[in-house]
Amino acid sequence: MCGIMGYIGHREATNVILDGLAKHEYRGYDSAGIAVVKDNEILEVRTIGRVSVLAAKVAAAGLTGEAGIGHTRWATHGGVSETNAHPHISSDKRVVLVHNGIIENAREIRKDLELRGIKFHTETDTESAVQYLGYVYNGDPKEAIVKLTKRIRGAFALVIMFYDRPGEIWTARKGSPLVVGHANGEGFCASDPTALLEYTRVVWFMDDDEIARITRERCEFFDFAGVPHNKEPMHLDWDAAMTSRGEYPHFMLKEIHEQPDVVAHTLLGRIAGGGVDLSRELSWTPEEAKKWRKIHFVACGTSHYATVAAAYIMENLGKFDIRTEVASEYRYRNMTIDSETLAVFVSQSGETADTLHAARLAKSRGAKCLVITNVRGSTIDREVGESIITPAGPEIGVAATKTFTAQITALTLLGMYLAKLRGELPEDSERRLISALMDIPGKLSLLLAKEKEIEELARDFADARGFFFIGRGIAYPPALEGALKLKEISYLHAEAYPAGEMKHGPIALLDKELPVVALVPKNSLWEKTVSNIEESMARRSPIIALATEGDNEIKQYTDHVIFTPATEPELYPFVAVIPLQLFAYYIARQRGCDIDMPRNLAKSVTVE
Ligand code: F6R
Repeated sequence: MCGIMGYIGHREATNVILDGLAKHEYRGYDSAGIAVVKDNEILEVRTIGRVSVLAAKVAAAGLTGEAGIGHTRWATHGGVSETNAHPHISSDKRVVLVHNGIIENAREIRKDLELRGIKFHTETDTESAVQYLGYVYNGDPKEAIVKLTKRIRGAFALVIMFYDRPGEIWTARKGSPLVVGHANGEGFCASDPTALLEYTRVVWFMDDDEIARITRERCEFFDFAGVPHNKEPMHLDWDAAMTSRGEYPHFMLKEIHEQPDVVAHTLLGRIAGGGVDLSRELSWTPEEAKKWRKIHFVACGTSHYATVAAAYIMENLGKFDIRTEVASEYRYRNMTIDSETLAVFVSQSGETADTLHAARLAKSRGAKCLVITNVRGSTIDREVGESIITPAGPEIGVAATKTFTAQITALTLLGMYLAKLRGELPEDSERRLISALMDIPGKLSLLLAKEKEIEELARDFADARGFFFIGRGIAYPPALEGALKLKEISYLHAEAYPAGEMKHGPIALLDKELPVVALVPKNSLWEKTVSNIEESMARRSPIIALATEGDNEIKQYTDHVIFTPATEPELYPFVAVIPLQLFAYYIARQRGCDIDMPRNLAKSVTVE
């Protein structure tokens, strides 16, 4: 989605804002713009394209200032054009703003203001907000913003400057994320906290229905009635170095390589005496754990697939009645959600609108709610109140990789902990799994050492028409994630099926141009999966097998084999996913795709 950056302080504001916008580019990036307020005048530069294009235009225009606001746009209302790019200025040239979100009653406001003689210039919903502010502004920014928040409906993170207030940046939030930061005479705001890491770790995550005033001296907070309130800052525990690509050509590759550490960090502090212990994060009693008869996992995209993997893992650990639901559907189904439900919301960003709304629904129905997120202080984390934070560090590549592994680690621990609280996890199973989990980082490092081999394989298949990914049982969830990775970044059609389901329809598509990636670990379903491989071969589909180290028989079926280290059967998704991520990465690279910023996608999806 769109990215916002605002700055006020002693540095050159345009430099700080351009740097911040570049860090937001992964969220959405069809156009960008920047505005400063100087000598009672609003000056701005906007462009189609990337932040680098904007930077060149800003330099050419000689735009400078001590305070300003900037935006990277991911078009929703109105096409991609320089006119529609933010910031937007009111016709009377007194107010400038950037916006992330959607103003639902924009048409109605526009019609009303046009009748009053105000001329609109863009096709955006955002312009209705800035024109309205220009219309009501009479020298008191807070009063004007309070009026605006009463007039507009929808979701918004707004960052606003007024022509006669060069020392103030104002923000208002409802539904779209915004973080405010401060350090030694400098004030900031951004959509994503990673944009602030280089400057400050002292931040305030804005709540819904909140207004902020940022000056060099301080940040002040008000509600939508304009009443001030105290708000404690948070200390960000991420490090600025985490947002750099280092020597890797892409963030995605860097993040794939971080996975051994990510798993190790996620386990850290959650294992005690050879067993699982989440009591530092979850103050749950055995009675409560027994009461939650239904477990709902709710998430989107990769996070959803992490929950599908978790469900397969947990069903082997205890007597769980689990549903895994896509968040955008969860809200609109008529499921029984009540006090006997434990609803677990999984979101890397903690800002995904679908997941957030689903969490609100479950909370309102009396379910016990838990969040698994990578961003402490994110909206879901704050709203739900009970979270397990995955310490994967910032994930910049649009395609999720390391956060998937962190999520399945956290979810496996959660499943074990619940089973243990219920008295359903035998001690020997607990020890066996904990010891296997502790071996996972080493196994992931072994898999990463196969990078060259996987690159070569990808080279052979980069011209395929599309791919099927098949797996049975615990091999099915990583097949889903492997197919998603491939389609997202290579734009090839890739679909995952439970291997046994192919014969019920999808097999009709198979031919020599449609390879099948078969996940065939050496477990009790090996023979059945091999039968499905044979069925695919009979339709002349090339086979790529993901088989277990030491499985020599698989070579009878195909020459294209990636061997994965053996692990406890439940933990197979951990070892399967890295080769699939690398395979997708190298196919996309071979095809010359924009890997870290794939077309049409945004990292944080804050609209429904
Ligand atoms: C896939 C991907 C998306 C996200 C989905 C949910 O690579 O990144 O499918 O997984 O948009 O996002 P979060 O986890 O932030 O809620």
